[in-house]
Amino acid sequence: KKLLLIDVDCGVDDAQAIMVALAAPGAEILGITCCFGNTTLENVCKNVLQVLTVCNRTKIPVFSGASVSLLGEPAPVCTHFGQDGLGGKADADATILNLLEKEHAVNALIRIATEHAGEVSLVATGPLTNLALAVRMDPTLPQKLKNLYIMGGNMEGKGNRAICAEFNFVVDPEAAYIVLEDFTCPTYIATWDFVCRNQLPWGFFDQLVKQDTKKAEFIKKIISDCPAFSREEQLSAKDVNFGPGFASYDSYAMAAALDESFVTEYLECEATVELSGKLTRGMMVLDLTHRLKKKGKVFLMKECNIENFKKLLMAALQTMCRE
Ligand code: BDR
Ligand code: CA
Repeated sequence: KKLLLIDVDCGVDDAQAIMVALAAPGAEILGITCCFGNTTLENVCKNVLQVLTVCNRTKIPVFSGASVSLLGEPAPVCTHFGQDGLGGKADADATILNLLEKEHAVNALIRIATEHAGEVSLVATGPLTNLALAVRMDPTLPQKLKNLYIMGGNMEGKGNRAICAEFNFVVDPEAAYIVLEDFTCPTYIATWDFVCRNQLPWGFFDQLVKQDTKKAEFIKKIISDCPAFSREEQLSAKDVNFGPGFASYDSYAMAAALDESFVTEYLECEATVELSGKLTRGMMVLDLTHRLKKKGKVFLMKECNIENFKKLLMAALQTMCRE
């Protein structure tokens, strides 16, 4: 059995990643912790609860966490997935928040990891603020995790939110720095470059949402007016990441956690985060010549079996999966 903790800033792609995990046979989600990011913390909590409601899985505990970065920056104005994170289609009202656990996300991460020491993997698909706070409160947390999977950072110097920094890292660079310093457990990272290089054809996306289920309908709805999924915009943009297509960014980190044969090649290296550069703050820096003498290395995803990924995405929207 794969025991999972998931930390999210629930936008459209986090929602998909959660759905992939919910549908995976043999995976058990012990808790979902929320962090600000794609939208405000309150919206993130609502979005996670809306996803669990659509999937009939509201017994999974959801915890509210950091609402600002370690230095106090609130959620950036980010229209990539619409103001509400779900493409303007987040329709849960405030009463859904009654389903939230009372415990703070950071306490929950530490408690659950301690209860299942050595057995639980953490998948982080938002800014790393909750993780950084948790390791400061319990420096032994990384030893209790089996593995850590992250969507964030970049390998080739190309960013999205900034010239050369990826959103999850640049929204809270100090948190990303702390995580890359202190999480000495095996850490696997789906960088921005990697996910863009492995975008899927729109034809596949059409098949995906054509499935006749409540879950497919939900995904279709939340992407319908979402800037991130505008094919017209992609075609007219000068720089289309790495070619037109559809990328469910956070699902790549989730796929690596669920399916060991998904990633076929990793780059194992030391990595850190630039904190003071005028143009480079938040950029992931690879130390390929071991100058920083860091304690541990990370595994950066390089090549993958895209057919396995498609299968996981498809299965996530089928009804048969434990509804
Ligand atoms: C990452 O930033 C967020 O907008 C997405 O949900 C994803 O986690 C991509 O850079
Ligand atoms: Ca995310």
